[in-house]
Amino acid sequence: MTAVKAPRPLAARRPGALRGIAQIPGDKSISHRALILGALAVGETKITGLLEADDVIATAMAMRRFGAETAKDKDGTWRVWGVGTGGFAEPDGVLDFGNSGTGVRLAMGAMATTPVLAVFTGDQSLRRRPMRRVLEPLSAFGMDWNGRGDGYLPVTLRGARHPVAIEHRIATPSAQVKSALLLAALNAPGRTRLTQNVLTRDHTERMLKAFGADIVVEPDGAGETISITGEAELKPAAVHVPRDPSSAAFAAVAASIVPASQITIPGVLLNQRRVGLFQVLREMGARVSAASVSEAGGEPVGDVVAAFAPLRGVEVPADRAPALIDEYPILAIAAAFAEGRTILRGLEELRVKESDRLAAIAAGLRAIGVNVEELSDGLIIEGRGADGVPGGATVETHMDHRIAMSFLVAGLAAREPVAVDDTAMIATSFPEFEAMMRSLGAEFA
Ligand code: S3P
Repeated sequence: MTAVKAPRPLAARRPGALRGIAQIPGDKSISHRALILGALAVGETKITGLLEADDVIATAMAMRRFGAETAKDKDGTWRVWGVGTGGFAEPDGVLDFGNSGTGVRLAMGAMATTPVLAVFTGDQSLRRRPMRRVLEPLSAFGMDWNGRGDGYLPVTLRGARHPVAIEHRIATPSAQVKSALLLAALNAPGRTRLTQNVLTRDHTERMLKAFGADIVVEPDGAGETISITGEAELKPAAVHVPRDPSSAAFAAVAASIVPASQITIPGVLLNQRRVGLFQVLREMGARVSAASVSEAGGEPVGDVVAAFAPLRGVEVPADRAPALIDEYPILAIAAAFAEGRTILRGLEELRVKESDRLAAIAAGLRAIGVNVEELSDGLIIEGRGADGVPGGATVETHMDHRIAMSFLVAGLAAREPVAVDDTAMIATSFPEFEAMMRSLGAEFA
């Protein structure tokens, strides 16, 4: 998986209206967690709707290397036979997480309090991403690590022989860090208390409850404190994975900027901590709404309906960033097609995603003829209106799936086609992207 894939360029050009039903695959965050909690439970966990993209398959393979068994039924249901908390076996080779920051960081947490040795690596993009943010707090449980440079993959972990529960204030506004620590706490005797100053996605907490963990979440200023009891015995659960709002975002923005479009995106995860993009789009004047909202597997789910509307620029303050952290690339495209200026702040975490997304978005917007100012922690985008983006350029994606999909969406509404240098990485999160967009009427060549 670390082998560099041959680049696959693609161009998008203006179609007629986009119309129809957008079938989006399962949520990536929930898919990783379902496999990992399944591997830590005793007995058989059933998962429906799992995202079968490269990132999630890498996590499934790692869980097998730790001793869990996985199988897929003919109807697409996945089954995981877990080994119990503290039951991970020592992998006999290097664990390769490809492009997946979530997979590698959560798996490090899941093994940190089990006395086995494991070596973690990933692709060229993942090897540049900071791991110290999880390695340092995980050390407090009694784990040892060695890594390249200042905490970069490849990293070797030696799980704690005598783990201890911890009290910790999480420095990074990251659900991955929080989740890694919660998973480590599962095998540390006593009560671990974690405080975070901001509210990040809470799928791990919700799913841990469903698997029978003793976990309590209390508000704490603008953030919250989570306490969890260790030496937990997790009971297997049936997990239904709703469809990924971060993938639905591409279809929703495409319908908002391609004139006369109207699409429906069924069964989307509508967790309040994930729907920030839809809220901002509505503030921009977009016709994006939710229908048939219900609860499925402990998460709110509904149909998203999106239709073309003229957009206007908005200001999105820093405190909203966690609820749309992965959606800034596609929000920047919506802003480019809006009238007026959009100001996005609190984006410093974007510098350490699959690429330096702040720089990649700014360079891409400039290439397609949109004025943008790159701040250390934000972007100021001068919108050119629904029919005003020139296009006619090839955008560099820097091994980043969301940059690739965002600029292809831009090409659907720009005056001239927009190409991206590589679409190979789209398979890490949304392998069906091109086919799904074509089914709505998108034109790629
Ligand atoms: C994720 C959390 C976010 C997000 C990533 C998935 C998760 O990362 O960017 O795509 O599943 O926990 P951070 O928590 O590091 O911000």
